[in-house]
Amino acid sequence: MASPSLFKPFTLKDIALRNRIAIPPMCQYMATDGVVNDWHHIHYGALARGGAGLVVVEATAVAPEGRITPKCAGLWNDEQAQAFVPVVKAIKDAGAVPGIQIAHAGRKANANRPWEGDDHIPENDPRAWQTIAPSAIAFGKHLPRTPKAMTLEDIKRVQQNFVDAARRALEAGFEWIELHFAHGYLAQSFFSEHSNQRTDAYGGSLENRSRFLVETLAAVRKVWPEHLPLTVRFGVIEFDGRDEQTFAESMELVKRFKTEGLDLLSVSIGFTIPEVNIPWGPGFMAPIAGRVREEVGLPVTSAWGFEVPAVAEQAAAEHRLDLVSVGRALLANPHWPYAAAKALRADRPAWVLPAPYARWLERYSLGQF
Ligand SMILES: Cc1cc2nc3c(=O)[nH]c(=O)nc-3n(C[C@H](O)[C@H](O)[C@H](O)COP(=O)(O)O)c2cc1C
Repeated sequence: MASPSLFKPFTLKDIALRNRIAIPPMCQYMATDGVVNDWHHIHYGALARGGAGLVVVEATAVAPEGRITPKCAGLWNDEQAQAFVPVVKAIKDAGAVPGIQIAHAGRKANANRPWEGDDHIPENDPRAWQTIAPSAIAFGKHLPRTPKAMTLEDIKRVQQNFVDAARRALEAGFEWIELHFAHGYLAQSFFSEHSNQRTDAYGGSLENRSRFLVETLAAVRKVWPEHLPLTVRFGVIEFDGRDEQTFAESMELVKRFKTEGLDLLSVSIGFTIPEVNIPWGPGFMAPIAGRVREEVGLPVTSAWGFEVPAVAEQAAAEHRLDLVSVGRALLANPHWPYAAAKALRADRPAWVLPAPYARWLERYSLGQF
């Protein structure tokens, strides 16, 4: 019997994961006023029962104007925090570690749900709100609304929103937190010259464009306990033709994160502008994430196209990703870890499932009843 890397346990700070399979944050757009409900309870419980080591709950807005859509989850009040308690319990009861991504969507906020258009809500709609960003520059394409350039007071307020949301996440029982600094949302848009043309301390030089992100991370570290993992998702590359320069700048930023107490980086794509040329393919980000791990000396994870178990295993074994994030394949089949364990010929594959399933499936896989 084989012992695949994907099924080796992983410990970060005081948190032990049963294997290297992580479920990355995936918005459900099913909350009301930012409050999660039975949909989320059942959805996350089912994902966790499938056997992944870590379940990171979807991008959860730190402020009302930071939601991607009006139906996004939030953590800007205590009612929202309380509603997460049964979700956390469902994940933990199933043997996975409950994580959450906290986020501010910046100029990409105030959109319709993906299956209802994915575009900005018209400004005369009662559900419309003022979007904010480092500079008054629109994303473009389906998100053409020009945001308001943030004042220094806005910057301080949003940083405090991140701190308060982290504290509420802790109170709700989450044991792992991820700051959403990727995908062209607020923090990533501070880092990129495409979207940040400020002339004050938060724009211009690499150090200035890094300031919002580094300060926010440092402020969250003060309230997020040392013994629990504090992680960031960041787009280290845009695929806009300036990739080596962006990657080099990103590594400087991630080294600053490390100094401020970052425990793991989720390596992703910038998505700051619509005109990019992304070389999509199975697990195509794995070598890039492996390079980040080597250059910065931090544990990493990455997602994007881990559907075939052998590709996920290669990411863990060859590219040395500490965790492999599997998104859509787990929406299609929450029991993907079982399928992967069988495909990789892991020892007693059925035992990645909960006992009430495992016993019967182990016999089934032996061709007996
Ligand atoms: C329905 C859906 C919602 C998503 N929501 C988020 C999110 O809240 N935060 C985030 O960082 N990425 C989000 N993503 C991106 C995923 O985390 C992941 O990177 C992406 O699906 C690629 O991985 P995959 O090929 O395994 O699906 C979302 C993806 C999907 C399919």
